[in-house]
Amino acid sequence: MPTTKQISWIKGAVFVLALAPLLRMVYLTLTGQLVDPLEFITRSTGDWTLYFLCMVLAVTPLRRLSGANWLIKLRRMLGLYVFFYGFLHFMTFLWFDHFFDLQEMWKDVLKRPFITVGFTAFVLLIPLALTSTNGMIKRLGGKRWQWLHRLVYVIAPLAILHFWWMKAGKHNFTQPIIFGTILGVLLLMRVWWASRQR
Ligand code: HEM
Repeated sequence: MPTTKQISWIKGAVFVLALAPLLRMVYLTLTGQLVDPLEFITRSTGDWTLYFLCMVLAVTPLRRLSGANWLIKLRRMLGLYVFFYGFLHFMTFLWFDHFFDLQEMWKDVLKRPFITVGFTAFVLLIPLALTSTNGMIKRLGGKRWQWLHRLVYVIAPLAILHFWWMKAGKHNFTQPIIFGTILGVLLLMRVWWASRQR
């Protein structure tokens, strides 16, 4: 088990590393290295929302399998990065696709099923991000907080459905299948442990 000081260093390193995809996007855009910056940013932010979702859901299984309980200390930060990249993804859509016209955006959300599903997943992330502080955990009480955070069991399938639907037009399901399997296994492991505990 790393010492408290080492854990602080690890947390600092994870915090900085998690910003690397954003810095890369900014760098490639500002240096004019992208053929289609708008598409690249929309896709990259979507990809990183999904990657962080996988990482945050991997914390508990990794902790249980390895006995490295200190990993739990990274969970909140990783969860907030899911929201952060999800927010950037949503903002790029609102900005580049709709120039901040909320009415037009709303019409699009209702018209295109893959956007409807992505939007729902993002909206469900909001209460999780808002209740991530120690103060909110105390206010809600552990049990209620846990129940609320089970929303992740809805968010993950919606994220995969969003990805799947988006790829359906191109008949390329390899990535949605890979990420769907990863998230499915991670969620099933948690369900299995929870049922054994009961
Ligand atoms: C938890 C929430 C979400 C996740 C995990 C997510 C994930 C993704 C992923 C993985 C992609 C594909 C990137 C690629 O091709 O490599 C994508 C694309 C996209 N997403 Fe999301 N997304 C989410 C929410 C949203 C929301 C809220 C919106 C808009 C309201 C949205 C709009 C889009 C659009 C417009 C694309 C690009 C489609 C295209 O290029 O044809 N997503 N998203």
